Amino acid sequence: MCGIVAYSGKNNSVLPILVSGLKRLEYRGYDSAGVAIFSNNIIYSKKAVGKIVSLEEVINKNSPLEVGNVGIAHTRWATHGSATIENAHPHYSQDKKIWVVHNGIIENYQEIKEQLIRQGMRFESETDTEVIAKLIGSLYKGDLREAVLAATRLLTGAYALCIICEDEPNRLIGVKISSPLVVGIADDEIIIASDVSAIIERTKKVIYLEDGELIDINNTTYDIVSFHNKVKKKAISEIDWDLETATKGGYDHYLLKEILEQPQVIKDSVRGRIVNETADINFGGLIEVRSRLKQIDKIVVLGVGTSFYAAKLGELYFNALSGVPAIAVMSPEYRYTKNIINDKTWLIAMSQSGETADTIAAINEAKKHGALVTGIVNTVGSTVARITDAGVYNHIGPEISVASTKAFTSQGVLLLMHAIMLGRQRGLDYSEASAIITAIKKLPDAMQEIANNHQSIESIAKLIYQDKNLLYIGRQYNYPIALEGALKIKEISYIHAEGLSGGELKHGFIALIDNELSTIALATNDSVTDKMHANIAEIKARHGKVIAIANQNLSNVDATILVPDVQSDFVQPLVNNVILQLLAYYVAKLRNLNIDQPRNLAKSVTVE
Ligand code: AGP
Repeated sequence: MCGIVAYSGKNNSVLPILVSGLKRLEYRGYDSAGVAIFSNNIIYSKKAVGKIVSLEEVINKNSPLEVGNVGIAHTRWATHGSATIENAHPHYSQDKKIWVVHNGIIENYQEIKEQLIRQGMRFESETDTEVIAKLIGSLYKGDLREAVLAATRLLTGAYALCIICEDEPNRLIGVKISSPLVVGIADDEIIIASDVSAIIERTKKVIYLEDGELIDINNTTYDIVSFHNKVKKKAISEIDWDLETATKGGYDHYLLKEILEQPQVIKDSVRGRIVNETADINFGGLIEVRSRLKQIDKIVVLGVGTSFYAAKLGELYFNALSGVPAIAVMSPEYRYTKNIINDKTWLIAMSQSGETADTIAAINEAKKHGALVTGIVNTVGSTVARITDAGVYNHIGPEISVASTKAFTSQGVLLLMHAIMLGRQRGLDYSEASAIITAIKKLPDAMQEIANNHQSIESIAKLIYQDKNLLYIGRQYNYPIALEGALKIKEISYIHAEGLSGGELKHGFIALIDNELSTIALATNDSVTDKMHANIAEIKARHGKVIAIANQNLSNVDATILVPDVQSDFVQPLVNNVILQLLAYYVAKLRNLNIDQPRNLAKSVTVE
């Protein structure tokens, strides 16, 4: 997804600062990049298709770009028009004096473009962003803030913008609606970015801009105003992520780092939230809605992609433990189920990034129907965190690799804890709650045991890395794990995989089984183990290959991956999933693929 970095300050080498910020945003996924900076009172711009290194090569050919203390930069993930130099940001006004970078989508850009063309403007790109630049240019009468505010009255859609103007050399403006923008405040400089990763290298003091706010920076001073030009006082927050946390920590890939750090981060997710004495859960973020929870009669767990598979797990947890019926809904499908939502519904929105457009749209709709909406979100201050009534953070640190791993595990644990919390209000027995809590506490050690021996999964990966198709089967709580395991291998290995319930096999999938198809079977000890063994037998009888994930060696399979037994049907699937994450990682590694930034994918999908 697109990324923004902009700088204003006393440092005269703005270019390396912008480029370094863009590199911190690479994990978001992009296909072109560009910068525009003031240098000798003129705005110079350079753009390149492909990775930041290509932009650096272009920049290095041009010496005037080296000096300057105000600039804007962008990584673009193509939406309107393909990845070309013409479509790459920054875009400029007709007279080339006003330059704009933009994240988001302008809904009425065609209409505005036609009006501007009628006024005689010429467009060089297919983007909605060029329309913004030309529009601001057409409204400019000597004061950039006035022109931008006037433009906000005409634009509809989602945008985070940073804008500079050749006639106002020390001015940098940032503005946002429905797309994130964070402002880093240091002694001698101000950095704006679409997320904090691009800022933490220079400062940990940040201001999160809200929708309908504009920051007007003049060198190192600033005003934040509403779209009605009323000055607003904003608190400065301190980020607790350091740069080290956001880097690979010595591993070859962020993905491996993020899989292997789960024992620690899951402790962080759970920390301070379990009340041992009463076998209860206490989420500080839900205190203010606790009395409202007593009135709810239905739960909707919302998410998309990996967050949806966590929601599926949550649906099963709530139905088993909470005494309230639950259903998982995939965010983009929400609009077709909204009739079931009312003021007695508790909608729990799952989103690692907190910026997923489909999930945000569904939340806004659910709020209109009076639902209580809370979130389980990793990114502090993100849109989902802000628009929900209350919520719980994952506390797992930034997830950089595009494929989600530690966020899924944390979402699963936190949903289980939500189910226990509600269940304890509605008759879930102390001993049952206590047994699950004991298993949750075993989870980090079980994951550590797997992490200590993670290289062993490579030998299993060698059995399947050249396959074209795979099946993943699980039952009950392992069914969402089968779905997530199949998604993971699809995302990073580009192998077609299907996740299904073991019970579904006979209803169609079994037609695929032959001696060339491998099935990954989740067969750990639980109340449905016998049924899973029967499914394995069905596959073996048709000469299919089976790799089982089990707590002891199984005799009738091609390979068994052993996992520690945490003795809980609810928690064991989260242990099993770590194996599927590692399997996907090693398969992708053997296939020599771009593991952290798989083709066609973006970390945060901020368009519907
Ligand atoms: C995860 O591996 C995926 N890349 C993707 O499905 C992701 O989970 C989905 O886009 C939702 O993201 P969110 O949790 O940030 O809302």
